[in-house]
Amino acid sequence: MVKSYDFLVIGSGAAGLAYALKVASAGRVALVTKTTLSVTNTSKAQGGIAAVLKAPDDFEKHIRDTHIAGAGICDPEVVRQVITMAPEQIKQLVEWGTMFDRKEDGEFDLHKEGGHSEFRILHHKDNSGEEIQRALVSQIQNHPNIDVFENHFAIDIITQHHLGRHNEPWMKDIECYGAYVLNEETGVVMTFLSKVTMMATGGIGNVYEVTTNPTIATGDGIAMTFRAKGVIQGMEFVQFHPTSLYNPGEKPSFLITEAMRGYGGILRHKDGSSFMEKYDERGSLAPRDIVARAIDNEMKITGEPCVYLDVTHKDPEQTKAHFPMIYEKCLSIGIDITKEYIPVTPAAHYLCGGIKVDLNGRSSIRHLYAAGECSCTGLHGANRLASNSLLEALVYADVAAKDSIKVAALTTLRSDIPDWDDAGTVHNEEMILITQANKEVEQIMSSYVGIVRSNLRLQRALDRLEIIYRETEDLYNASHVSMKLCELRNKINVGYLIIKMAQKRRESRGLHYTLDYKERNKNLDTYPIDNE
Ligand code: FAD
Ligand code: SIN
Repeated sequence: MVKSYDFLVIGSGAAGLAYALKVASAGRVALVTKTTLSVTNTSKAQGGIAAVLKAPDDFEKHIRDTHIAGAGICDPEVVRQVITMAPEQIKQLVEWGTMFDRKEDGEFDLHKEGGHSEFRILHHKDNSGEEIQRALVSQIQNHPNIDVFENHFAIDIITQHHLGRHNEPWMKDIECYGAYVLNEETGVVMTFLSKVTMMATGGIGNVYEVTTNPTIATGDGIAMTFRAKGVIQGMEFVQFHPTSLYNPGEKPSFLITEAMRGYGGILRHKDGSSFMEKYDERGSLAPRDIVARAIDNEMKITGEPCVYLDVTHKDPEQTKAHFPMIYEKCLSIGIDITKEYIPVTPAAHYLCGGIKVDLNGRSSIRHLYAAGECSCTGLHGANRLASNSLLEALVYADVAAKDSIKVAALTTLRSDIPDWDDAGTVHNEEMILITQANKEVEQIMSSYVGIVRSNLRLQRALDRLEIIYRETEDLYNASHVSMKLCELRNKINVGYLIIKMAQKRRESRGLHYTLDYKERNKNLDTYPIDNE
């Protein structure tokens, strides 16, 4: 079955929804999402979105904070573009109906988070992402030019490869003509043809055992682009959030927002002793790579499975008012955070790397754009500053929309694309093979490619992953496609990219810390490492 559109958007988080709304004035839009519209990382965001709105804050301070967190390899042009475009994105979100918290005088109530020198985080209580998602979804559902396809899984983008040509990453003329998409209810693989395709598939957290990301975050867009020979970069920079709730067995892990440390929360051991001052003069409010590594080290020293976040010294009513969701969540597992410490542990949270894009959100593949967490714009460098990712998603949805409207106007749809070919495949009954391989991938990545790495660990991870890769490719080639099998395949591709780029980065910088090269290497000051 073939469907033809001007714009194909893969993903319904902040990036995909904002882009769809902006291009819909210029043509017909298909919005494809693998579960339901609101199951996204965006919906889970707690802290909020960073933007400079008033003195004493100014753009230069936000730019400086972003560069400091990024450990010397943020792209200066990109940083300036994103930060100076922030106020107009906030205005747009408010026009779309997002209700950010305000003070009694009507001004926005701004929070502060780790690594920020000023109060500049707009938020809605402690569930900012849910509020942004709600507002965007209600706009999408009312738009006559946007067709929404829930429970539709994008398998691969369509390029000249599907017309019989062999592509390579260095080729400059690879083109995207749309995507093959599995209708999960019927099992039919549909051909979506489009003049422009936007990849907005979000993060990769589920490549690891412990993650704050919902189960949709399996790196699909990055893996699809990699298989289509697009350029991927910065994959070694995986951000572990220092404070996810330690509640064994719960997946995804519930996030304890960094805003709690901005509010005055202190990291402690069970006996009440604090430890962050040993690692950084900013104490509990140091950037999250430093805090995550410190916690990892303290847990290794004490042998405990977690440390604790203490807000018991704060006014209980204020704590409940600022963090109602966290208060309720902790209470539901027997912890009253106004009286007791919160047990916390680091969790895979965010990927700074991804599909390489330029200042207009164009990937290395023609007519393929990327925005949001699956993209690598150069904003975050080696480490993302808290609350800069929703902002980046919105800015790049905006610049990409403006650029792709012009590109679509000059493009005609192809009429020679073959249907999905599943000749010779059978229904796969062996779910246990997929489940077990998934567990193995997550264990390999967590044990050997986590917060602290080494040459030996990375090589061990690669050797083990290669075995699972070969087994999974054999299974994939012999089976009718299923979402679970494709996700496993994508996680293996993403794991491979993380390991390969981590091996190439012979230094410690930002989120990439290795025991074999503990210092920064000046020769690697120029961003980036990629698969070209
Ligand atoms: P997402 O919102 O993750 O959306 C991805 C979409 O792609 C989903 O709809 C998914 O179903 C779809 N998709 C994926 N693969 C396929 C496929 N193969 N076929 C079809 N559809 C597919 N950032 C901040 O700036 N501030 C915060 O306070 C903050 N807090 C966070 C808290 C948590 C718990 C988490 C997990 C993240 C947080 N982040 C925060 C990060 C931020 O939420 C994400 O980086 C951002 O929302 C990503 O948006 P996105 O549109 O790129 O992807
Ligand atoms: C948080 O609220 O701590 C997460 C913020 C972010 O990931 O930017």
